[in-house]
Amino acid sequence: MSRFDRAASRRHFLQFLAGSPLLAGGGLAAFAGEGPATKFPDPLIWAPLDPDNLIKSPKEAINVFDFEPVCRVNVPPAHFGYMASGIDDEITLRANREGFLKFQLRPRRLNDVSKVDTSVEVFGVTYDSPIGIAPTGGNRAYDPDGEIAVAKAAKVGNHLEILSTQASTSIDDANKARGGNVWFQLYASPSWDIAKALVKRAENAGSPVVAVTIDRVAGRNQETFSRLRRQDARVCGDCHEPGGPDAATRSKPNFAGIDVAAARVPNLLSANMTWDFVRRLRDTTRMKIVLKGILAHEDAKLAAESGVVDGIIVSNHGGRGEDSGRSTIDALPEIIEAVNGRIPVLIDSGFRRGTDVVKALAIGATAVCVGRPYLWGLGAFGQAGVERVLEILRTETRTAMAQCGVRNVKELTPAFVRRA
Ligand SMILES: Cc1cc2nc3c(=O)[nH]c(=O)nc-3n(C[C@H](O)[C@H](O)[C@H](O)COP(=O)(O)O)c2cc1C
Repeated sequence: MSRFDRAASRRHFLQFLAGSPLLAGGGLAAFAGEGPATKFPDPLIWAPLDPDNLIKSPKEAINVFDFEPVCRVNVPPAHFGYMASGIDDEITLRANREGFLKFQLRPRRLNDVSKVDTSVEVFGVTYDSPIGIAPTGGNRAYDPDGEIAVAKAAKVGNHLEILSTQASTSIDDANKARGGNVWFQLYASPSWDIAKALVKRAENAGSPVVAVTIDRVAGRNQETFSRLRRQDARVCGDCHEPGGPDAATRSKPNFAGIDVAAARVPNLLSANMTWDFVRRLRDTTRMKIVLKGILAHEDAKLAAESGVVDGIIVSNHGGRGEDSGRSTIDALPEIIEAVNGRIPVLIDSGFRRGTDVVKALAIGATAVCVGRPYLWGLGAFGQAGVERVLEILRTETRTAMAQCGVRNVKELTPAFVRRA
């Protein structure tokens, strides 16, 4: 059933576990009892420790982490490494999980929670759940059906979905698979002409929102990616055309018909992006504009007062943008205060549990997006894996809401959460 060389991948997985700092000195036994185990933010360590006994079907999963090691077995080391990687010391990557420990929920009792409505409304559209699909590039690196599988899974649970500029599927095809309403994430590049052409494509495809990513302005050292790539026996150049941005975008359907070479850009990073770009974008498109990558209350306030921004996503790119050490859940309260209800505030980075989602909603987020968890599901079992990941997150969120004594998302106020 594996799409790749299973035996080789399994060997790599064993090396991966053996090389994990979590397992150094004493192996698994050290974590079986009390002691340091509760300090680990990521329970990968607990469930699928036996690589010979990983879940064999989506329905066997008891949490979203169960999919990650199956994905690790199925997916080539370079692709898995790219997905798993943070940057530098991966402090931000870990902070995104640890940040949730800094907040406690305050459950209330004796409310009838026999029916819990988890739906949220964003820009006039109702979604059955507050959990959305964050944009991630090149989903065919994890499963041949890539973004189409993700879009179909998003449709099953009626989830908000954002498609990456760097997707291996066009925005038109993703919209068709999802049944419309897919937001388009924009990597603007340093060239206005490229940005405008991408935005027009999304607009013509019927996307209601462009989510402009504002946190990829510099290069990065993805150390986990670099190390796992060395374990990959395949030749990257067989699939990835070597060369500059023109070559890199040739296989990306959203760039079809866009003359990247003519723009003569050194790379696709938006190092030159300023508020002028956002204002120019406002004059160019009818789509709602959302800024993805806000982390400071000053920028949130500027966005809310700009008159040209319809919403923001609090994001540190899943610990892949810079190694600031700042988790998004830590940044959320000051941002909610600065925005003061003027525009919707979405959030991503590190969300893995229903309680994570409920904490963010209680602080004031409108919705929450996930990245890696659905990629684990995709790499493990294709569309069925993504569906199950989303189902688990929905179930956990509904359960956490009921445990808190709330019947709908509107009832989740800041009174339900406090700094630990
Ligand atoms: C493999 C991978 C590819 C990504 N590609 C993009 C992208 O193309 N555009 C973008 O704005 N964010 C991208 N992101 C960041 C996600 O949109 C999101 O911010 C992040 O994954 C959320 O953190 P989480 O993975 O911990 O849930 C990517 C993340 C991953 C893991």
